[in-house]
Amino acid sequence: MAETKTDPKKLFIRTYGCQMNVYDSERMAEAMGGQGYVETDSPDDADMILLNTCHIREKAAEKVYSELGRFKDLKAAKPDLKIGVAGCVAQAEGEEIMRRQPMVDLVVGPQTYHRLPEMVTRVDNGAKAIDTDFPSEDKFEVLKNRPKARRPPTAFLTVQEGCDKFCAFCVVPYTRGAEVSRPADRILREARDLVERGVKEITLLGQNVNAYHGDGPDGTWSLARLIWALDEIDGLERIRFTTSHPNDMTDDLIEAHGTCDKLMPYLHLPVQSGSDKILKRMNRSHTAASYIALIERIRAARPDILISGDFIVGFPEETDADFEDTMSLIRAVGYGQAFSFKYSTRPGTPAAERPLVDSAVASDRLQRLQALINDQARDVMERMVGREVDVLFEKPGRLAGQMVGKSEYLHAVHVQAEGIMPGDLRRVRITEAGPNSLAGALV
Ligand code: SAH
Ligand code: SF4
Ligand code: F3S
Repeated sequence: MAETKTDPKKLFIRTYGCQMNVYDSERMAEAMGGQGYVETDSPDDADMILLNTCHIREKAAEKVYSELGRFKDLKAAKPDLKIGVAGCVAQAEGEEIMRRQPMVDLVVGPQTYHRLPEMVTRVDNGAKAIDTDFPSEDKFEVLKNRPKARRPPTAFLTVQEGCDKFCAFCVVPYTRGAEVSRPADRILREARDLVERGVKEITLLGQNVNAYHGDGPDGTWSLARLIWALDEIDGLERIRFTTSHPNDMTDDLIEAHGTCDKLMPYLHLPVQSGSDKILKRMNRSHTAASYIALIERIRAARPDILISGDFIVGFPEETDADFEDTMSLIRAVGYGQAFSFKYSTRPGTPAAERPLVDSAVASDRLQRLQALINDQARDVMERMVGREVDVLFEKPGRLAGQMVGKSEYLHAVHVQAEGIMPGDLRRVRITEAGPNSLAGALV
């Protein structure tokens, strides 16, 4: 007689948006693991599909509905299939999602996924479940039950969430709520756990990570203080953090960039615009000159640091002259990398009421800005040729015998060599700069 065995239920998660969503998706998978779910990488054989969504631009939010539309046939063929929406669209739109897509069973905001197991039980019993609270209990406590599996060599670790800055274009203060920092001891415990499981590089995450001000054993800790505590963990080789606001770049953090060997020479410091008029209308509370002066101070502490940024073009009332100010700022700073976006109106934000820049004009500006950034990024990569860098290897490359990793400057580096394992940190001489990555040989 054949043995009867119930297969574990399968969970498919698709993640959109920022790294914090990547981190949250891992946490949700762990929480669901406690409910007997294992992850699958195909929606077709899933018992539950979870979309972890992003609301930052209109396109990002609309993607969710087109994706849900695609799951309609799956759900028709398999009525037991459960569909959930998590993340920032869930927070922003709540019940509205179920009105637009009645096949959605569950809506969970970014602050309540520790309640996911209980919600899933309700859904399994045929009910719908919605939770978009901003609860006072710590959602990260869901971590207590995580399995002790081996991990890839790099990991994200959320240390701060939410934002109090209220830039006029941005939904984050509404979807993620007020700025909250996790206590230092919890972060250190989680970091040690990651290192025990094979992690060599940790990227500290927060919408405003350098505003970190968590409870420490001896009072409030800054991000720099936290970095120095992480620096003492044996086996942890590299520390990164993202994303920072120029106004929270404190002296101790700048100094850490000069003196902490484990803190990598890469800084993502969005400026958004180079026009003081636009910066003011964006409620950014810094000027182009104060940003450039800040970059100079950071480079004085760590001359080789690679600066990356975010830009919005076509913000309401942006003139050609304002845009040229942004181009000048980019020339003055010299970016190694940057993300740039055409302004997208977000309902409920202060800028949503203002007259739009002509869409074709904005597209043209975006193209010009991206061409300039690409030139700068390529220059930086070409200057790497002949230099030695440290590469933390992550995985095999596309060619046989090839391994890929990241340099301290976050460039992808390909190396052809035997015997390198994921997690190995090796010295590499760069021999070639391609359009998106570098190639080199072990020293
Ligand atoms: N907390 C981070 C990033 C938040 S969102 C910071 O302050 O830098 C990531 C980027 O998306 C922003 O830096 C901005 O460049 C872009 N962005 C945010 N809202 C936008 C909007 N309404 N339209 C276009 N781009 C936007
Ligand atoms: Fe959004 Fe501004 Fe906060 Fe960044 S600092 S998350 S852009 S409101
Ligand atoms: Fe998007 Fe929410 Fe992150 S809106 S960028 S997923 S904080």
